Amino acid sequence: MIDVVVSGAAGKMGAETVRAISGQADMRVVAAVDPARAGEPVPGLEGMTYSPDLGTAIDDTRPLVMVDFTHPSVVEGNVRTALGRGVHCVVGTTGLARETLEDLARNAHGAACLFSAPNFAIGAVLMMQFSAQAAKYLPHVEIIELHHDRKADAPSGTALKTAAMIAASRETVPVIPGRETEIAEGARGAFVNDIPVHSVRLPGLVAHQEVLFGGQGQTLSIRHDSIDRTSFMPGVILAVRETPRHSGLVIGLEHYLDV
Ligand SMILES: NC(=O)c1ccc[n+]([C@@H]2O[C@H](COP(=O)([O-])OP(=O)(O)OC[C@H]3O[C@@H](n4cnc5c(N)ncnc54)[C@H](O)[C@@H]3O)[C@@H](O)[C@H]2O)c1
Repeated sequence: MIDVVVSGAAGKMGAETVRAISGQADMRVVAAVDPARAGEPVPGLEGMTYSPDLGTAIDDTRPLVMVDFTHPSVVEGNVRTALGRGVHCVVGTTGLARETLEDLARNAHGAACLFSAPNFAIGAVLMMQFSAQAAKYLPHVEIIELHHDRKADAPSGTALKTAAMIAASRETVPVIPGRETEIAEGARGAFVNDIPVHSVRLPGLVAHQEVLFGGQGQTLSIRHDSIDRTSFMPGVILAVRETPRHSGLVIGLEHYLDV
C-alpha cells in the first residue's frame, strides 16, 4: 500500500487528486494538508479533516509519497519539508526554476526522489514530444498557451518546457520577424529560448496549448486541450506509483512513459 499525503488538498487539483488516489486499490490518502481549510472534513474521506501543517502531518502519518498542488509561493518550502523527512515528492505546482529543483533534490534525505511535471496530461506530454520532432523540419514556431484566469504563473510550465524541448531539437534558430517593430509592447509575446510565447488567461478555460509551425506554403498546428482536471489524474497516479522506484531529480512524465 502506498501511503500518500496530499498538499493543497482542498484546491482544485488537490481535491481531484484525493478522489483519484482514493479510487486506487494500491494507494490511500493518509493526510490532506490545506491551511485554508484546517479542521474541516475532507469530502469522501470519513473521519479525516484537513491538516494545517505539512511537517506535522508527515511526522504523524509517515507517508511514502507527498503530492503537491499548492501555489508557486509555497511549493519550495513544502518540498523541502517532505524531502528533508525522506518522503518522495510528486510536484505538480509549477513556477519552480530548474536550479531550485536541483538544489531541493541534492538536499533530500536518503534516497527520496523529487519528481516534477509541468503537465500530468498524457496528451500534453505527446504534444511536447511531437513538437520537438516537428521542429527539426519546421524551425519557425510560436507557442500559444491558454489557461483559466486564476493561474498564478505566466508563461505556463508546459510552455517553458515545450520551448526548451524545441530549442534542444531544432538545428537552426530563425530570426523572429516583427520583434523590433512592435507597436504595442508584448504584441509579439515573450521570448523563451528564442521562441515567441503568448499567454492567454480567460475564465472558462482549463489548460490548453497550441504549437504553431510555419514552413514554405504550409503550417502545422499541434494542439492539446485539457477539458477538465480529471485529464491530469492518470499521470498523477502513474507518478505516485513510479516515483518511489527512483531517486534524485526526475522532470517530466515522459520518463515514466514509453514514448
Ligand atoms: N502539473 C500539472 O499538470 C498541473 C495541472 C493543473 C494545475 N497545476 C498547478 O497546480 C497548482 C495548483 O493549482 P489549483 O488550480 O489546484 O490551485 P488552487 O488555488 O485551486 O489550490 C491550491 C490550494 O493550495 C492551498 N495551499 C496554499 N498554501 C498551502 C500550503 N502552504 N500548504 C498546503 N496547501 C496550501 C490553498 O489553500 C488551495 O486550496 C498551480 O501551481 C497550478 O499551476 C499543475
